[in-house]
Amino acid sequence: MKKWVVNRLVLKLLLGATAFTGAGWVQAQTVNVICSVQAEWCNMIGTVYARTTGAKINISMKGSGEALAQLIAEKENPKTDIWFGGTGDPHLQAAEQGLTLEYKSPTMVQLYPWAQQQAQQSGFKTVGIYSGPLGFGYNSELLAKKKLPVPKTWADLLNPAFKGEIQVANPASSGTAYTMVATLVQMMGEDKAFEYMKQLHKNISQYTRSGTGPIKAAARGETTVSISFVHDGVGEKMQGFPLETSTPSDGTGAEIGSMSIVKGSRNLEAAKKFYEWALTPGAQEMAVAAKQFQLPSNKNAKNDARIPDFKKIKFINYDYAKYGASAERRRLIAKWEKEVNSLPR
Ligand code: F6P
Repeated sequence: MKKWVVNRLVLKLLLGATAFTGAGWVQAQTVNVICSVQAEWCNMIGTVYARTTGAKINISMKGSGEALAQLIAEKENPKTDIWFGGTGDPHLQAAEQGLTLEYKSPTMVQLYPWAQQQAQQSGFKTVGIYSGPLGFGYNSELLAKKKLPVPKTWADLLNPAFKGEIQVANPASSGTAYTMVATLVQMMGEDKAFEYMKQLHKNISQYTRSGTGPIKAAARGETTVSISFVHDGVGEKMQGFPLETSTPSDGTGAEIGSMSIVKGSRNLEAAKKFYEWALTPGAQEMAVAAKQFQLPSNKNAKNDARIPDFKKIKFINYDYAKYGASAERRRLIAKWEKEVNSLPR
């Protein structure tokens, strides 16, 4: 008996990653994932996917802009098989640059029109997996203590009383912040939007690397206000932090969180299996278990009551194709660096 166990162990080591199925030990598939959602969700996906499928899953966490930069850097020799989550604009840019692979999932018909549209716009090189509205997070205790008003419009953030009280991410690394830039340009026109961002700059204490950094900082009282996806406020509040959110009454944008298979993936079969799994209602509902409250793209996934109610929010008609185009995204980010980020505060 002991010998049998030792032999099996040796075989397992020789084979590398293995899994025990009804048919015996088989070579486990490996899938390398860049994960651009919050760590809790990435970790849950990693654990559940490995346990339920026997696959080996390597997860590397990166913000949307950083993930795109990695895919560009790896273009000749891809080490990533699939890019899960993160805002849709850089996924569209990756599609346009030929970094991701066309794939038409049979599950597509179960997805909301906005998720299918994301796929169509990219020539089926990406797909919507969730959506979430852009807005403001604020620490209600700090706001009251500092006698500051609840921000309800974009113009409210320019109030000089908010000097040094606001955080937002850097649009070069963060899809959240790029969504803000693109939203303002669409709402105000480019000149006025950049004028607005220059004024806003005076009130910003820090441009963070990650899009969720500012709302976490607001929850913990390290800043008073954040510009963030409001679904990220729910988890902070659940942890007991005095964090509230609002969405601008003058209009706002929403992200279409996306997923793409990397062109040249060395584990294509495994990547497609993961992709299919990630579109199932069960996998999408896992977000709530990880305290993430984006709207799932599969119509059959249950919608938790804590997910922001899209019907109560005034949305602009966000042009995903235009603002996900490589040249436009690069141009706007470079302009922001030059004309906004370089200014003294
Ligand atoms: O995981 C939370 C989240 O807000 C997602 O909804 C979004 O796609 C992602 O973070 C964006 O992160 P970043 O701004 O760092 O690219």
